[in-house]
Amino acid sequence: MNSPLQYDSYLELERLLACQHLASDAHGRPAHDELLFIVTHQAYELWFKVILHELESVIRLFDAERIEGGAVCIAADRLERVTRIQSLLIEQMKVLETMAPPDYLDFREFLFPASGFQSLQYRLIETRLGLKPEQRLLYNQFAYHTRVPVAHQDILKKAEEQPSLYSLVERWLERMPFVASGEFDFVRRFSEAVTNMIGNERETVLADASLDEKRKQVQLEELERTTETFGSLLSSELHEEMLRTGRRRMSHKASISALMIFLYREQPALHARYRILSLLVSIDTLFTTWRYSHSLVVHRMLGRKIGTGGSSGHHYLVSTAENHKVFTDLMEISTFLLPHIALPALPPRLVRDLGFHHSI
Ligand code: HEM
Repeated sequence: MNSPLQYDSYLELERLLACQHLASDAHGRPAHDELLFIVTHQAYELWFKVILHELESVIRLFDAERIEGGAVCIAADRLERVTRIQSLLIEQMKVLETMAPPDYLDFREFLFPASGFQSLQYRLIETRLGLKPEQRLLYNQFAYHTRVPVAHQDILKKAEEQPSLYSLVERWLERMPFVASGEFDFVRRFSEAVTNMIGNERETVLADASLDEKRKQVQLEELERTTETFGSLLSSELHEEMLRTGRRRMSHKASISALMIFLYREQPALHARYRILSLLVSIDTLFTTWRYSHSLVVHRMLGRKIGTGGSSGHHYLVSTAENHKVFTDLMEISTFLLPHIALPALPPRLVRDLGFHHSI
């Protein structure tokens, strides 16, 4: 029979709690706050491990030609877990903020050239979500991977070659039925609804006696631009142009499915899909929030000093928050949403196909 499990042996606490070696101690100038600094980073890395575990499992669920409804629901639960961990990671920065800048400076000089920049797990999370290598900012004019150990470069290269969560979700959206179903052609019906809506708004502007000719002209030109914006998504040729010029990333087919999901999310067969898309937007948003809050901590600690990894510090980090997003196209679907009243009604057969097949 197995001997009864003990709390500390199960969690290997002796090893875990022996992993905090202060660089300031080693240099004979013990700095009180360095323990907090080390433990904070270690706690982050443990949570990164769980995030990667969840993301890899979701990627496995999506890496199939056919994804059953149950798998989509499990994936959504795991993505939600990722968002909860991210919220915790943002909150956790507050503990580190209790360290006053001079107390950080007491041990900063011993850290060079170590930096969070070298966190392999952080880079893997970005890559597995779908951040493209060419999208990454240069780091002191060099590609980021040239600044991490060779063994890590190989791991990152392999990760980049595998399908990311972004690419699998894109393929999954491209396969979605319902967009053209029997008589119903979603793009055609939606385009008609947009034309009607803009036509009504044009009439309202023309009939508005409080507007002089110049103001009317400005508003009519604005409506013209709205028509062009909708056209850039609804027309596959214009969408292709957006892809070619790097203004969009997601394929036309996938973007149209995403639009339909966002518009008709209350339909049971679309709801789990909606949950996935909405969680991916949340993950991107929380990642951006973390990047900003980390950049603010860095600003507060260092002002304009460079980082221990040699970057411009705060300035570099703010730029990553703006440029290292993955699911921007999903976020921008909101540009194309209409109020419920303006939406084309779905035909009864399609509503039946999208519904539960039993009465509640
Ligand atoms: C006193 C607190 C902190 C300071 C002053 C600081 C400073 C910096 C600086 C200046 C950079 C830019 C690279 C460089 O030049 O070194 C950086 C990057 C980074 N730091 Fe921190 N950091 C702090 C806390 C943390 C914590 C708690 C984490 C959690 C893991 C972390 C994770 C990262 C990551 C992942 C990067 C790379 C970001 C990217 O390149 O997109 N940092 N940090």
